[in-house]
Amino acid sequence: MSAVGSHGKIILFGEHAVVYDHPALAAGIPDALRMVSLAPTSGPVRMRILPWDLECSDSSGDLLGSGLRRLKEVVPGGGRGCSVVLKSGIPPAAGLGSSAAIAVAMVRALCQVREIATSNLQVREMAHEMEKIFHGRPSGLDDTVATFGGVCLFRRSGWDRHERERKSYCMITPQTLQVPYRKQSFLVGNSGIEHSTRHMVAGISRRRKANHKKVDALFEVIDESLTEGLAAMNEGDNSRLGKAMLNNHGALRSLGVSCGELDEMVDVAMAAGASGAKLTGAGGGGSVVAEASGCEEEVIEAWRSHGYSGWRVELTEENRTL
Ligand code: PMV
Repeated sequence: MSAVGSHGKIILFGEHAVVYDHPALAAGIPDALRMVSLAPTSGPVRMRILPWDLECSDSSGDLLGSGLRRLKEVVPGGGRGCSVVLKSGIPPAAGLGSSAAIAVAMVRALCQVREIATSNLQVREMAHEMEKIFHGRPSGLDDTVATFGGVCLFRRSGWDRHERERKSYCMITPQTLQVPYRKQSFLVGNSGIEHSTRHMVAGISRRRKANHKKVDALFEVIDESLTEGLAAMNEGDNSRLGKAMLNNHGALRSLGVSCGELDEMVDVAMAAGASGAKLTGAGGGGSVVAEASGCEEEVIEAWRSHGYSGWRVELTEENRTL
């Protein structure tokens, strides 16, 4: 990973539930953003992201502009700004953590021109402040994975000592355990429908106010899926992993955050031989993730024939920043 860059993420289990302090498991997508050029300025912060055709500065009146203004406040050292060109390997607003990837890459860029030495922990904290502007009440999962990569087991209120000892995972932030993993690949399928995380998270909050028992029971199903899926990943049991993903998708569907296209993508993947699939991210559009070892091409082709794009994400040891 370049000094200025960041990971995207696939949430394997636990989206939405994670906002309410349930655990989530997410994997980093390498090279979500990579720096093409970086130049200091006398003050303004400007950003261009090449394949997205996106240009923004701290004087823009939109959310990104507000995020960049927050960035200038949270990165110490004042004064200098920066002009950054980034290249992205993921689509924007597709449930793959693009906003967190922007936040982390821009924090790293501004720290570099202001000559501030920062740890990944500090980068994550500053990026989280930008994520608050984008999402209102982010769990912190996206900015953590965007910073560190790898496979992260995340819980908002943190992990207590006993849980940590039992799991014997490496603790990289008080909220994050980095999980050792075998070489593993997933397919990501993009519905092409942009979604708003803020809107989807607000929808769950409304539904939980109206019927917290029902929503909390579905969060329990998501917890069970995560436990099952994590055990399956540890054992290299892809068929069990796929079943746990489907179970998680069913709960997200009952929570009202799926949509016709995402359900279709899950069904199409299953019909083409996947062992499991689920929406990933906030839902309402965006992407799905599938476990489809041995039939990757068939699933990608089946998605393509239904008008969706798909590609393979490989989790390897190089996939992390640490
Ligand atoms: O769709 P994304 O990439 O913004 O992911 C959102 C994940 C949620 O769990 C729905 C929200 C959060 O803050 O964790």
